Amino acid sequence: GLKQLRYDGQTVVVTGAGGGLGKAYATFFASRGANVVVNDLGGSFKGEGGGSAAADVVVSEIKQAGGKAVANYDSVENGDAIIKTAIDSFGRIDVLINNAGILRDISFKNMKDQDWDLIMKVHVVGAYKCARAAWPYFRKQKYGRVINTASAAGLFGAFGQCNYSAAKLAQIGFTETLAKEGLKYNIICNVIAPIAASRMTATIMPPEVLDALRPEWVVPLVAVLTHSSNESETGSIFEVGGGHMAKLRWERAKGALLRADDSFTPGALLNKWGAVGDFSEPSYPTGVANFMELLEDAQRLPANLPSENIDYNGKVALVT
Ligand code: NAI
Repeated sequence: GLKQLRYDGQTVVVTGAGGGLGKAYATFFASRGANVVVNDLGGSFKGEGGGSAAADVVVSEIKQAGGKAVANYDSVENGDAIIKTAIDSFGRIDVLINNAGILRDISFKNMKDQDWDLIMKVHVVGAYKCARAAWPYFRKQKYGRVINTASAAGLFGAFGQCNYSAAKLAQIGFTETLAKEGLKYNIICNVIAPIAASRMTATIMPPEVLDALRPEWVVPLVAVLTHSSNESETGSIFEVGGGHMAKLRWERAKGALLRADDSFTPGALLNKWGAVGDFSEPSYPTGVANFMELLEDAQRLPANLPSENIDYNGKVALVT
C-alpha cells in the first residue's frame, strides 16, 4: 500500500512558526507524527512588538488535529532557550528549521545602523544560535537535519534589501560549512530560497500570484531533505515555490592563468580578460581552485604579453 514519509518519535523545531511558511512546516511535521516546537515571538514583519498568540494558535490547531506540539516565544537570538524547550518537552531534537525572519527594507542611501543590525541579529545570529544549541545533541546521537532559509534577495540582490540580502546570502556559507562538518555525524544541512504568499509578500505581489504561491507548496522539498532517508543531499541550495524546485550551484569560468613574474602587468591581464569570464567550458566547484596545480601550470607559461589593440583614451595602444 501507500506509505507516508513520517517523522514519528522525532522532535522538530520550527522557528518563526506562528505564520507563513513556518506554520506550514509545523503543521506538516505534526501531521506526520513528529513532536513539534512551534517557536514564534509574535512580532510584526518589521520585528516590532511581540506576544504569545501567534505560536499558541498554531499549537492549538496542531493539537486539535491530534498532533503533538509545544509553544516557545523566545527570539531566535536566544536559540539555547528554544532548543531547551525541545529537550524539556520531548527529550530530544532531530530537525531544526531555521525559518524566522523579518524585513527592514530601505534604500542603502537611507539605511540606518539599527536597520542593518536588527536584520543581522534575527537572520544571522538567530540561525547560528539555534543551530549551535542543537549541534551537541545532533553529534551525540549521530543524527540531525537542518534547513536554513535564504532568499532570492540574497542570491541576486534586490532593491531596498541590502541588509536582508547580506543576511540571506550568509545562510549559504553557513549551510555549506555545517554540511561539511556535519556529514560524518549524519547531520544533513541544506538551504532554501523560498517564495510563498505570506504577510511578508502580501503587499508586494498581486492576488493571483499569491494564490499560486501557497506556503504548503514549499513543504514537500523540506520534508524530503529533512527525512532520515536523505543521507547524501547536503550542503545544497534550492530555489522553491509555487510547485517549482531547482538546485542552484556555483559555476567557475575557464579563467585566465598568467605567469606570475615581471611581465604580469595590468595590461597583460587585459590581454586575457575574455578568459576570466569565459563560461563556455564551466566547472562546478564545491571547493577552492587547486592552486598548487595552477602554480605549476603558470610556471610553464611563456612571459605574458601586454594588451594589444586596446582602445586607450580613444587611441589604440599597447598597454602594460
Ligand atoms: P512571515 O512573516 O509570515 O513569518 C516569519 C515568522 O517569523 C513570523 O511569524 C514572525 O513572528 C517570526 N519571527 C520574526 N522574528 C523572530 C524572532 N526574532 N524570533 C522568533 N520568531 C520570529 O514570513 P514568511 O514569508 O513565512 O517567511 C519565512 C522565512 O522565509 C523568512 O526567513 C523569510 O525571510 C524567508 N523568505 C520568504 C519569502 C517569501 O516569499 N515568503 C521569500 C524569501 C525568503
